[in-house]
Amino acid sequence: MSETFDVTAARDRFPALNQDQVFLDNAGGSQTLGDVIDSITQYLSKTNVQLGASYHTGKISNTRYEEGYQAAANYMNAGRDEIVLGGSTTQLFMNLSSALKIPEGSEIILSKMEHETNVKPWLHLADRLKLTVKWWESPKPELKLTPENLKPLLGPKVKFVACTHVSNILGGIHDVKAIADTVHEAGALFCVDGVSFAPHRKVDVKAFGVDFYAFSWYKVYGPHIAVLYASNAAQEYVKPLPHYFNSTKTLEDKLGFAASNYENVQSLPCIVDYLADKSDAIVAHEEKLQTILLEFLNSRKDITVLGSTSSDSTVRVPTISFVVKGKDSREIVEQADKISNLGFRWGHFYSKRLCDEVLGLAPEGVVRVSMVHYNTEDEIQELVEILEKILS
Ligand SMILES: Cc1ncc(COP(=O)(O)O)c(C=O)c1O
Repeated sequence: MSETFDVTAARDRFPALNQDQVFLDNAGGSQTLGDVIDSITQYLSKTNVQLGASYHTGKISNTRYEEGYQAAANYMNAGRDEIVLGGSTTQLFMNLSSALKIPEGSEIILSKMEHETNVKPWLHLADRLKLTVKWWESPKPELKLTPENLKPLLGPKVKFVACTHVSNILGGIHDVKAIADTVHEAGALFCVDGVSFAPHRKVDVKAFGVDFYAFSWYKVYGPHIAVLYASNAAQEYVKPLPHYFNSTKTLEDKLGFAASNYENVQSLPCIVDYLADKSDAIVAHEEKLQTILLEFLNSRKDITVLGSTSSDSTVRVPTISFVVKGKDSREIVEQADKISNLGFRWGHFYSKRLCDEVLGLAPEGVVRVSMVHYNTEDEIQELVEILEKILS
């Protein structure tokens, strides 16, 4: 299957890849598809008018915006009325947390394996509604959230559970369908941060069985915009927050706050078209990339990979973090910066509770290499050579 993926052809679609820089911080933000850039330029050059108008250019803008919304909804297998597009996943979760209706005095379960984006909004919610927070984690070396380690925390007072689909540090894929079933049996709502999953796999919110799901298009080859899904059933628990004279039917009506940036929304069909027939080939290609890096990391006694050491694509995505005995993470990255054009990073990547409390790391955190489908096997071989040189 991997033979069918033409990485050279894929790279040709990204203008930024035509320069002397290797992009290995893709979990921070991916490069932008050329078609997206062109479509935004075109939109702003020709049809940048306020939506809702009946004159000629207005109608074109309305259609392009609507096609963007529709493409985003179809892409994640949601209804048009079940999504809202907005500035960032953080912003959309904050909006949701201001609108969620949960009985005062209930309990919520938050995980410690998260980017803070999937924690802070729910702490705000807990503050607002006087809810009790229970913390969920899976210790080393498993570092995997499962129905089994969730169940002891569940009970009749729990009304909301949040966790990530894939940690932006560990890269392991959580079985959100199994967790969703467990959460629903307990009578609670389930919210998933899909930001680190979406650049690598198909998103299907119905198959996942979740109530809320969000991800950021700027990490999925698009512009700086994010999407939040809330099932129609879960929207019963969302208090609409529009101007009093506006409609309250769709999630966009309820939580949109006029924040779906027009030029970005209308560019989304380009991403959906680009990814349409590539999913399996991307998985196979990314598995090759992660195998090269993990074989090297696993072969070294001085290196600890955080999370799964397996390169199996059913287990993980190619976001790989490690620490090296006797060297701080910052030092390693700074040395690589000096002798190569490889762009990867050190730190906690906003998963501070995970790094400090679960992994017990030094303030410099991990070295993280995050690959996507446009990276090549040669780039990862070069990374291995550079790491060998630095750690020799
Ligand atoms: C797993 C994860 N969740 C959430 C976010 C935040 O996304 P946004 O910048 O769209 O708020 C990030 C960003 O790095 C992330 O990696």
